[in-house]
Amino acid sequence: MSDGQKYLVTGGAGYVGSVVAAHLLAAGHRVTVLDDLSTGHRVSVPEGAEFIEGRIQDVARWLDSSYDGVLHFAASSQVGESVAHPEKYWSNNVGGSMALLAAMRDAGVRTLVFSSTAATYGEPATSPITEDTATAPTNPYGASKLAVDHMISSECTAHGLAAVSLRYFNVAGAHGSYGERHDPETHLIPLVLQVAQGKREAISVFGDDYPTPDGTCVRDYIHVADLAEAHLLALTAATGGEHLICNLGNGNGFSVREVIETVRKVTGHPVPEVTAPRRGGDPAVLVASAERAKDRLGWQPTRADLAGIVADAWEFVRQGE
Ligand code: UFG
Repeated sequence: MSDGQKYLVTGGAGYVGSVVAAHLLAAGHRVTVLDDLSTGHRVSVPEGAEFIEGRIQDVARWLDSSYDGVLHFAASSQVGESVAHPEKYWSNNVGGSMALLAAMRDAGVRTLVFSSTAATYGEPATSPITEDTATAPTNPYGASKLAVDHMISSECTAHGLAAVSLRYFNVAGAHGSYGERHDPETHLIPLVLQVAQGKREAISVFGDDYPTPDGTCVRDYIHVADLAEAHLLALTAATGGEHLICNLGNGNGFSVREVIETVRKVTGHPVPEVTAPRRGGDPAVLVASAERAKDRLGWQPTRADLAGIVADAWEFVRQGE
């Protein structure tokens, strides 16, 4: 059992942040959520967490030496939007993280877990992707997250910060009443579930001529609760002066068509699909090697089954009907 630490969770009203905050509380920690509710939802902040409505750029107002660490999720996270409005991504993601690192330095808070992304790798030619795969982001979202990873590395070297960056692959599923509520929704599983619910006529398959077994893109879907557990382990593994970077995925790829078929099986509903043009910037295959997370964090995902991931997401969306 934990010894009850106190953590600041930035972006804790969002999808991943709220699930991590719930896990921290369940483990006996004290949690303060800082979120400006620009994309997060007040109802997603877990009961038992203190809530501050505020911007990450102003984090110095609230961070003090009573905190044992920070878990940093507050960011803009839409690839398409980042191409159209890159300035928003440099400001929120890079500017926000700079403000956080300065506030942590000033307050003497020396442990950080950062929400990074597979988008830092871009379109690697090799699979699975390890942390040694060259980073070459193909959009401002991935570039902004990579810039933050560089900032964190230098902060660890220069000022002894203990930090872990977790590079998520395709996060999916739900944890009880905590799930995905993006607006607009762009992610495959929630969109296919909207078709199963009858809220959307058909799912568009963005390209079926990729060099993959069925021609559609392959992704590594990871259950949000498995992902959350890695964050708690990362807090323990974080070591002063070291920036540890770990991929989080299951190491299994599923195609867009396999996801759609799984939704049909899990929900029992028909899911009409239409083939649409490729979406710009989509790599054919993104599959993680998560060996480092297993070795260094002692992480062991237990919800890797795609049908189980989809079933939990389905349960969540039906709560909102
Ligand atoms: N897709 C469709 N139809 C849709 C929506 C998605 O065919 O209506 C396809 C996409 O083309 C892609 C796959 O489903 O091949 C998964 O798409 P998502 O949008 O669900 O996820 P991405 O793989 O594009 O994005 C994820 C994260 C991003 C991150 C990116 C790269 O959500 O934050 O991986 O790491 F940047």
